[in-house]
Amino acid sequence: MVHHHRATLLLHHNHHHHHQHSKAGDALLLMLAGFAVASCLLLLLPSSPFSAAMDDLLLQLGRTRCDQESTAPTPCSAVPNGTICCDRTAPRTDVCVMRGDIHTHAASNSLFLLLPANSSSAARARAADQRIRPYTRKWESSVMSTIDELRLRAVPVPEAEPERCDVRHNVTAVVFSTGGYTGNVYHEFNDGIIPLYITARRYNKKVVFVMLEYHDWWITKYGHIVEQLSDYEPIDFANDTRTHCFREAVVGLRIHDELAIDASTMPGNQGIQDFRHMLDDAYRARIKAIVEEEEAEAGLPPPRSSVGGDTKVRRATEPLEDDKPRLVIVSRNGSRAIENEADLVRAATRAGFRVDLLQPRPDTELAEMYRVLNGSDVMVGVHGAAMTHFLFMRPGSVFIQVVPLGTDWAAENYYGQPARRLGLRYIPYKILPSESSLYWRYSSDDPVLTDPVTVNAKGWQVTKKVYLDGQNVRLDMARFRRRLREAYAHWATQRRRQQSKPL
Ligand SMILES: *[C@@H]1O[C@H](CO)[C@@H](O)[C@H](O)[C@H]1NC(C)=O
Ligand SMILES: *[C@@H]1O[C@H](CO)[C@@H](O)[C@H](O)[C@H]1NC(C)=O
Ligand SMILES: *[C@@H]1O[C@H](CO)[C@@H](O)[C@H](O)[C@H]1NC(C)=O
Ligand SMILES: *[C@@H]1O[C@H](CO)[C@@H](O)[C@H](O)[C@H]1NC(C)=O
Ligand SMILES: *[C@@H]1O[C@H](CO)[C@@H](O)[C@H](O)[C@H]1NC(C)=O
Ligand SMILES: *[C@@H]1O[C@H](CO)[C@@H](O)[C@H](O)[C@H]1NC(C)=O
Repeated sequence: MVHHHRATLLLHHNHHHHHQHSKAGDALLLMLAGFAVASCLLLLLPSSPFSAAMDDLLLQLGRTRCDQESTAPTPCSAVPNGTICCDRTAPRTDVCVMRGDIHTHAASNSLFLLLPANSSSAARARAADQRIRPYTRKWESSVMSTIDELRLRAVPVPEAEPERCDVRHNVTAVVFSTGGYTGNVYHEFNDGIIPLYITARRYNKKVVFVMLEYHDWWITKYGHIVEQLSDYEPIDFANDTRTHCFREAVVGLRIHDELAIDASTMPGNQGIQDFRHMLDDAYRARIKAIVEEEEAEAGLPPPRSSVGGDTKVRRATEPLEDDKPRLVIVSRNGSRAIENEADLVRAATRAGFRVDLLQPRPDTELAEMYRVLNGSDVMVGVHGAAMTHFLFMRPGSVFIQVVPLGTDWAAENYYGQPARRLGLRYIPYKILPSESSLYWRYSSDDPVLTDPVTVNAKGWQVTKKVYLDGQNVRLDMARFRRRLREAYAHWATQRRRQQSKPL
């Protein structure tokens, strides 16, 4: 048997930003576990490792969510002309809708709704002033305080002196912040990209994005996705002094759950698999360009183009000279690293996989990640924000998440359940204390090893220090091999099923 190991280290060239929030974002990830309400049932889970105050909020979030499922349509779903309407009933986000003659005014952080000066008091009451921070973590005051507050204000205008528009848009504006916990891919997708999809997909690209805390790097990183959702240039609200006029504006994004889309509330019942199709569309052209660049660098003759657009991409993402399934290890640097990664590579190779090693960095281009993961059959990684990339795996493929001590709840709720909803075979690998680096630092009867739930109950700072920042894993390969065999068997079954499908 030939052992084939191909290591791919993806380094990328074109962004040089640094995310100072990165650490904090990662840290906060687990804290949010207390608020991650996947369903009403989740309220019954006892293991949330967080403080009493947070548990109260968890309950409140759950209650609101459960209640919503049995009640009337959302507020502000039918907004008449000349109205400012805010729906503040959701636990994670506020969304305001304005309709009428809307003018941006960056200097005062405002969207004006122009009303005739002689409007009746009833008409003015429908357009009472509002304030909103358009970000999807409204229960977290610390991060919300970093988001610009937008004022939505009705302004009476004498008919004789109508306000001027520099740009008159004929489509809806969706206004949101690209600030907050940026620099952490989990937060970028969970708090930003997926809510943007939920909110904007219904406009079929006939929508203009107005961004607060606009960052060039965000556009560089997510531009391919933004282009799938809007036909128009986004507006950098704070830095664009022109007056933009709209007939309708939606301020704030809707959010459903952890990395989730509730298809029943979406036009055409679009769900997380449709979101993934959108990613596929977003990255197709870029991946093709990357492959061409690589072929040019390798001095290969340019591929014949007569077969149609997709051929080149397929050549790069499908197994080349052999028929083996591909397993990709999404590798962490620093904490929660796999200390015996080389053993893992060897074992996976012996189990029949072609193995890729992927170390995402803040500047790794998402198209590059997508290319590798979309072309893989199994993804293996240790719990952490980078597991968000399971979104790039094809439904029907396998995701093995290594779950270090003290991270069960977050691993299951942030990545396990969402991965199942995408249609992946999710295989958690909960390590034994002896596979944790903490095993060598604490005596074998220490609660850190024997009772992580109790240790987590001491608070977020403890969890972060002990389990998130202070732990590496050393996989027991005899144990882990069973997961590799399970993954291989799943792949083989899927493939048989596909091959027996009539064409
Ligand atoms: C909506 O209101 C704006 C300003 O108040 C007005 O110019 C416009 O004609 C109205 N449109 C409709 C359909 O009533
Ligand atoms: C406001 O003034 C306009 C023109 O002067 C008039 O047509 C309209 O009926 C007035 N509206 C109200 C509510 O008084
Ligand atoms: C909106 O439509 C008007 C009239 O058709 C047109 O003059 C204007 O350029 C359009 N605005 C934009 C931003 O396309
Ligand atoms: C504002 O926009 C201009 C033109 O797009 C750009 O040159 C400038 O760097 C921007 N300033 C900030 C602070 O983003
Ligand atoms: C992802 O993989 C599928 C199946 O191999 C392929 O059809 C599709 O073109 C790939 N997407 C991209 C963007 O390369
Ligand atoms: C991994 O961490 C080491 C030490 O912190 C650092 O020198 C190295 O550049 C990192 N590698 C990557 C790919 O981030």
